[in-house]
Amino acid sequence: MAGEGAKIVITDLDVARGEAVAAGIVAKGGEALFFQQDVTDEAAWPGAIEMAVARFGRLDTMVCNAGIAVFGPSLTMSLAEFRRQNAVNVDGVFMSAKYAALQMRKQGDGGSIIMMSSVAGLRGSANLAGYSASKGAVRLLSKSMALELASDGIRVNSVHPGIIITPIWEKAASPLGGGLNSPLDPQVLGAAVPIGKPSAPEEIANGVLFLASDAAHHMTGSELVIDGGITAGAIRRPS
Ligand SMILES: NC(=O)c1ccc[n+]([C@@H]2O[C@H](COP(=O)([O-])OP(=O)(O)OC[C@H]3O[C@@H](n4cnc5c(N)ncnc54)[C@H](O)[C@@H]3O)[C@@H](O)[C@H]2O)c1
Repeated sequence: MAGEGAKIVITDLDVARGEAVAAGIVAKGGEALFFQQDVTDEAAWPGAIEMAVARFGRLDTMVCNAGIAVFGPSLTMSLAEFRRQNAVNVDGVFMSAKYAALQMRKQGDGGSIIMMSSVAGLRGSANLAGYSASKGAVRLLSKSMALELASDGIRVNSVHPGIIITPIWEKAASPLGGGLNSPLDPQVLGAAVPIGKPSAPEEIANGVLFLASDAAHHMTGSELVIDGGITAGAIRRPS
């Protein structure tokens, strides 16, 4: 998005990571601001939007991307683990969309809100029930807010990636056990993808960029699946 001229505000719990991404954008001649934010903290949301607007003048796009996953069978997952996923993946997305839309409505000329769901929000996922439930909620939160905000020209869409090798896999191991044996082995992960390999982060970013752009001006309440064919059907690529 920075490469297309967007001025970017990045927030994350992880300061080192957020600062590195912002510095990378600035090093390539772009404009970016990072500050730490916990998306589950409602009290911090109005100030976060204000900081973005104070720096860049307006808010055109919100990408609700922060997410966590916890692997493990439902029968050993604690309510606390289940709720933690919902707090980040649903409450955080709800608040980011709500406070962004309030600012966009004030500006009066529309906007684009992009909620990160998953293929896990489109179908069940054994050993990822809490995550799947949260991502399914994001799918219908997106469609519901799309209906409410359509008359303001504020578009709301969800993105459904398949498998991308990012730190979320490493962090997903439940203290209670369960999950994948070798979650970061691209061959293991790739075997689940008809195209034969996990997606690259840029492949998801391209979809986000499209939804943010005027080229997607007639898309709202849509779900953009970028999954190398995972959800296309039950038959996997012959090995
Ligand atoms: N990697 C995949 O295979 C995959 C597949 C489908 C969907 N997704 C979704 O893509 C999004 C990005 O995930 P990723 O794969 O880049 O994982 P990631 O772990 O690399 O990135 C998630 C980021 O969210 C941040 N975060 C977590 N809790 C937070 C909080 N309370 N407040 C602020 N920031 C917080 C983390 O610090 C991290 O930087 C997530 O919503 C994830 O569910 C990922």
